Amino acid sequence: MHNFDQIVHAASLAFAATDDPDVLEQIKASYLGKSGQITELLKGLGKLPADERKTVGAAINRAKGEVESALNARREAIRRMALDARLAEEALDVTLPGRRQSLGGLHPVTRTLERIEALFRSIGFEVADGPEIEADFQNFTALNTPEDHPARSMHDTFYLQDESGGVAPGVLLRTHTSPIQVRYMQAHVALHAGAETMPEIRVIAPGRVYRVDSDATHSPMFHQVEGLWVGQNVSFADLKGVIADFLRRFFESDDLQVRFRPSFFPFTEPSAEIDMAFMSGALKGRWLEIAGCGMVHPNVLRQVGIDAEKYLGFAFGMGPDRLTMLRYGINDLRLFYDGDLRFLRQFA
Ligand code: FA5
Ligand code: MG
Repeated sequence: MHNFDQIVHAASLAFAATDDPDVLEQIKASYLGKSGQITELLKGLGKLPADERKTVGAAINRAKGEVESALNARREAIRRMALDARLAEEALDVTLPGRRQSLGGLHPVTRTLERIEALFRSIGFEVADGPEIEADFQNFTALNTPEDHPARSMHDTFYLQDESGGVAPGVLLRTHTSPIQVRYMQAHVALHAGAETMPEIRVIAPGRVYRVDSDATHSPMFHQVEGLWVGQNVSFADLKGVIADFLRRFFESDDLQVRFRPSFFPFTEPSAEIDMAFMSGALKGRWLEIAGCGMVHPNVLRQVGIDAEKYLGFAFGMGPDRLTMLRYGINDLRLFYDGDLRFLRQFA
């Protein structure tokens, strides 16, 4: 009798000693399995005298029942512990603030570019583009700027390397958008070859350009928007009119300080640079150059196969980064390219 209680007690202790369900089943086998302690006892019943068999058998069966219920209780406890652990692990703090989806915004210079395109489209200009890696020919030579022309040195740029690490001849990061004039006129001439009169060209061409420049009003990568109007009756007065009208609409003001200052470009004659004064901010009243412009040089027209006796035109190249500075009263252009969200968010 005593012996059976000890077995039940030992089994309960053994069950309690593990929280691993597999180990628990192994312990179970050592009591209730094919050659487990309880099973062995039951097997031994047959050897007992008949009159003892009944009472001993009943006692063993009771012990067996107790071992089984201790086992079941432990199984249930282990299952609950595992569940609690999982719940704790996967717990969500529903009181934490949510993660907000932050919205992107357009870069201030992109806004300017979109505005410029919309305004020029509204007066009948097309929008073209060209490659940022440009041929020396289109960037300089075709623009009446032959090799060794001193004006080339005003446009120090990034030349590309060939496979051996040397300078790739004739390939550079474009220094202005004016090569798009050349490409556009070449394509236009090809398209209308043989026609009695060539339709007018009226196009702007925005894009990135590169120079070895860096200060408050110059960045090594910046933007330009080229403009070109070629026809039989285009004058410098038209150039001034288009620019003045554009600026009034861009800045939404009739009260702008703008001046055309005589200048030089190999590809225009006469040439001018356009300055505008800051209307607000710390720089209020200070002049800032915003564009170069002029009447397309006859050599440039001839270069692309346009009859310079019959057609003439104006061209300009303006700096949308500078227009953005003026629009928002910003005193350092490099802020646009530092990638500081505290600055950029103000325009979103
Ligand atoms: C030119 O690049 C000429 N291709 C413009 C032109 C086109 C003249 C067609 C005549 C006919 P310029 O180097 O001045 O010109 O540059 C034009 C404008 O680009 C400047 O007025 C200025 O607004 C802007 N700009 C020039 N360099 C930088 C720079 N490093 N960073 C930001 N803007 C610049
Ligand atoms: Mg200039």
